[in-house]
Parts: sequence; structure tokens; C-alpha cells
Amino acid sequence: MGERGGGLPRAPPLTGAGRGGHVGGMQVLSGKARKAGVLGWPVAHSRSPRLHGFWLQRHGVDGAYLPLPVAPEHFVAAVRALARLGFAGANVTIPHKEAAFALCDTLSPVARRAGSVNTLVFDAEGGIHGTSTDGFGFLESLQDGAPGFDPASGPAVILGAGGAVRAVAAALLDAGCPKLTLVNRTPARAEALARDLGGPVCVAATPPLAEAALLVNGTSLGMAGQPPLDIDLSALPPHAVVADLVYVPLETPLLAAARARGLRAVDGLGMLLHQARPGFEAWFGVAPAVDAELRAFVAHDIPPR
Ligand SMILES: NC(=O)c1ccc[n+]([C@@H]2O[C@H](COP(=O)([O-])OP(=O)(O)OC[C@H]3O[C@@H](n4cnc5c(N)ncnc54)[C@H](OP(=O)(O)O)[C@@H]3O)[C@@H](O)[C@H]2O)c1
Repeated sequence: MGERGGGLPRAPPLTGAGRGGHVGGMQVLSGKARKAGVLGWPVAHSRSPRLHGFWLQRHGVDGAYLPLPVAPEHFVAAVRALARLGFAGANVTIPHKEAAFALCDTLSPVARRAGSVNTLVFDAEGGIHGTSTDGFGFLESLQDGAPGFDPASGPAVILGAGGAVRAVAAALLDAGCPKLTLVNRTPARAEALARDLGGPVCVAATPPLAEAALLVNGTSLGMAGQPPLDIDLSALPPHAVVADLVYVPLETPLLAAARARGLRAVDGLGMLLHQARPGFEAWFGVAPAVDAELRAFVAHDIPPR
């Protein structure tokens, strides 16, 4: 999996002293509570506070994770202020991932490759360190959803060429994927991504399904309110794995079609859950796990199909 968490510095383990907790059912923070959050605009839709809140409670951490709505014109000042306010770090979501990349004092190799940052860690001197954990999250989710699948075992086909695909494609190449084909509505965007990535990446007008060990939907098609992805899976080999980055609904029409064909299908929620792990560990000093209880808690309002 290479660079788990992008080599982020990790907070020391919590000791009993100064530990917040639950008193009479109420979460109580100490004066030493660790603080993190998610910066986005808007941010109300983000599931990250619920996700991190689950882990904070499970591990009895003296800490808080907040939704932080910040307009693009205030982003840089807001991040610098968080570092001065003693925040341990933050997640960054739409539309700030490129701005975060430009702002960091140091960047992990993974962030450089992805060209964006979704996880910030602040050091004691106010230094801002950035990494991108989306690719890590995707690979970990693939292992959960299709145990034993090896990205090096055959070609991958990715539909889309946006920010999420950039991270996923880089992670697959780093994991040894021997050939990666990008298919996008706007071919020029796929060609630019292929150039940036380098390696065994090509762009095609139609997905070469017959050779694919892995098919990934990285477009927004299939998401609730969007048209379904129009694709015939019959040419995929029987061992192929189909993954969707969309997680609303959990079972997209693409994943339903894959399962109907007897193929292994991996939904997008696992990526969302796993990408959060490195940040939580860096800020709060505890390595959290993704399990069925967390999945159910975060998916409480996501339509199953
Ligand atoms: N599971 C997770 O943790 C996770 C994380 C991030 C994103 N995602 C999901 O991944 C998807 C892409 O997100 P992103 O951040 O990469 O977005 P993005 O940068 O805006 O890219 C959107 C992609 O979808 C394509 N697309 C949009 N509408 C289309 C249509 N009507 N027909 C064909 N292609 C269309 C775009 O093609 P053009 O280039 O032609 O516009 C582009 O390739 C979304 O569904 C998002 O929810 C999931």
C-alpha cells in the first residue's frame, strides 16, 4: 500500500490525565482537547464529522472534529488561523483541494502525484503539512470489498478523469497496475491526466472491457439525481472486479449489474471511510478501524439503492 498516510507526523498516545470523555451522556472536553475538522464550501453535506465523531467516541478521545464552512476567498487565512488556534489539522474537501496543495509548507509524494491535498497536519511551530489519502482509501476499500484482488494482476479501466480519478489512478499505478485506460466524456481532460501520471496509461473512446481485471466508475453518473452510467458489462471477464466511487446510493445501477453478472462489486463508501484513517491517527494518536458498525453508522441516511 506504500505510503500509508503519506508519512504524516502522529500525535503521541493519549494518557489518562487531562482526558475528556462522557459525563452523564455528555461529551466533555478538557483544556488540552485535540481539535480537527473539515474545511469545505459548502460543508453541510459532509459525512466526515459523523465518521470522525464515531471514532472519537469509540476510543474515548479527548478531542473534537468540526464542520468548518469556509468560502474560497477566506481559505488561506482560515487554515493559518486554525494552525494558530492549536488545531491538530483538518480535512479539506470541495472546492479547496487544489488551494490546500498550493498552501502547504511540505507535501507528501502522494499529494504531489495527485496534485491535491485532502488531509492537513499542523506542527507545533504552525507548519502545514499536506497529503492525499483518497488513493490509499480506494486501495484499502478494494481489499475489503474484493479480498485478495491484486491491482498488479491485470489492466484497469477507469471511467472519468476528475479529481477523484487522479488519486485513484496514481494509487493503482503505484500498486503495480500494468495498464490503465482512461475513458472520459471530455477526452482532453483524460489526455492531460495521462500525461501527468506517466507510465502505462492510455486514453480510449470506449472502455476495453474484455481485457479488464478492474473497472472503476469515477464519474458522477449513477449518483442519486444523476442519470445512470450507460454501459454493457457483458464483455468483462468473469474474474473482473467492478468498483464505483459513487456512494449515494450504496448500490448503484452499475454495481447491481455487476452483481447480477456474478462479478465482485465494491461500493464507494469504503473509500470514504478508509481515506479518513490516516488523518484521525495523525491528529488524535489512535489508529482507527473500519468495520461494519462504522459503516452502518455513517450510512444511516444513504439510500441502499
Ligand atoms: N468514495 C469517495 O470517497 C469519493 C471521493 C471523491 C469523489 N467521489 C465520487 O467520485 C465522483 C467524481 O468526483 P470528482 O471529485 O472527481 O468530481 P470531478 O472532478 O467534478 O469529476 C467528475 C467526472 O465525472 C464526469 N462526468 C460528470 N457528469 C458526466 C456526465 N453527464 N456524463 C459523463 N461524464 C460525466 C466528468 O467528465 P468531464 O471531465 O467530461 O466533465 C469527470 O470525469 C463523484 O461521484 C464523487 O461523489 C467519491
